[in-house]
Amino acid sequence: MASRLLSDLIIRNGPVPFSVAMDVALYSSGGFYAAGGGAGRRRDFITSPEVGALFGALLANALDSRWEVLGCPDPFIVAEVGAGSGMLARTVLAAAPRCRQALRYVMVERSESMRALHSQYLSLTAADELLGRSTEGRRSSEEDAQIIPGQGPLVASMTALPAQRFRGVIVANELLDNLAFDLLERRVDGWAEVRVTNGAYGALQELLVAAAPELDAWAMAIAPDAPIGGRIPRQVQAREWVHAACSALQAGSVVAVDYAVKETASLAHRDPAEWLRTYRAHGRGRHPVEDVGLQDITVEVAIDQLPKPTHISTQADALVRWGIAPLVAQARSTWHERASIGDLAALQARSRVQEAEALTDPTGLGSFTVMEWDVGRIASVQP
Ligand SMILES: C[S@@+](CC[C@H](N)C(=O)[O-])C[C@H]1O[C@@H](n2cnc3c(N)ncnc32)[C@H](O)[C@@H]1O
Repeated sequence: MASRLLSDLIIRNGPVPFSVAMDVALYSSGGFYAAGGGAGRRRDFITSPEVGALFGALLANALDSRWEVLGCPDPFIVAEVGAGSGMLARTVLAAAPRCRQALRYVMVERSESMRALHSQYLSLTAADELLGRSTEGRRSSEEDAQIIPGQGPLVASMTALPAQRFRGVIVANELLDNLAFDLLERRVDGWAEVRVTNGAYGALQELLVAAAPELDAWAMAIAPDAPIGGRIPRQVQAREWVHAACSALQAGSVVAVDYAVKETASLAHRDPAEWLRTYRAHGRGRHPVEDVGLQDITVEVAIDQLPKPTHISTQADALVRWGIAPLVAQARSTWHERASIGDLAALQARSRVQEAEALTDPTGLGSFTVMEWDVGRIASVQP
């Protein structure tokens, strides 16, 4: 059980930073994701790829335009990090993108139980074969790899990004909000760090300790006007992930979609329960140190803590650039023609229109932020 694991860790090491508690709660054996929690209608929350096939079809358009800007390379590697059940991969492939013969799609997923789903719905190729590596040794770059062109689409499932740099795109939908972060609280005499410790009757509880000098200085600089009692997250793992993803590309882009705020300082003026949320069984969960391992823990991503993106837009605007309007117009006209027949084509068309509404809803998924970091030759691409 994740709560037992965390409690034992605290007995051995003393109160732990919030990021350590979150990592155990989500990713240890018995943690939320290891136990099969996650995105999906039959799981805990709905993400854009889980709304239906439209998000994947639009991402397929965006991938095509990047492939063309890169000069139609073959292989064209797309790595989706935090791939969950593999739904986005399935819907991208079902949309038959123009790049498909060059496409090598790598699902990167930390959770073993999610990875187990990948082979249920997709025919997988061994990662070494997909990346053109011999099994005897790793090659340092895509140029050294033995890749026969025109063999796509190939799909692989991995636990981490390929070690060799590649030309292509790295995608992450609702990954950054799930990477462990630390929590700080403004006190009269400076900043305190929120740690997690053992409380009475086997419960876990928060403990405030004076922040180390460098942490205090960081918080003071990023949120100078924070009110006493105001809290902010410190998202080091998210920053390091973006940095590593950009470094993994020879040329291409990193595209991350998430709920995000421009400035960390704005969070200090809001109730932390608004931006540090827990989810379980399609509802909100309890305080993050309660029900450890039984609920998801997420945070609004603070863009000023990440490497500066090349482009930022709302999901609603990005989907317009990725071609949502013609796909929805086509679905509306099919629905009007066939509504009286009520066949499968009519129902699929109606559901596509409803999916579009959900994905662009300005009070929901449409307000998410699409952050893009361009690397190398793709520097001018939009969309
Ligand atoms: C909120 S879910 C999103 C799943 C999927 N992208 C979607 O939109 O439906 C986050 C996923 O990221 C995975 N994850 C978290 N950290 C990861 C990492 N460092 N590398 C790969 N996957 C990770 C989790 O196991 C989980 O499946």
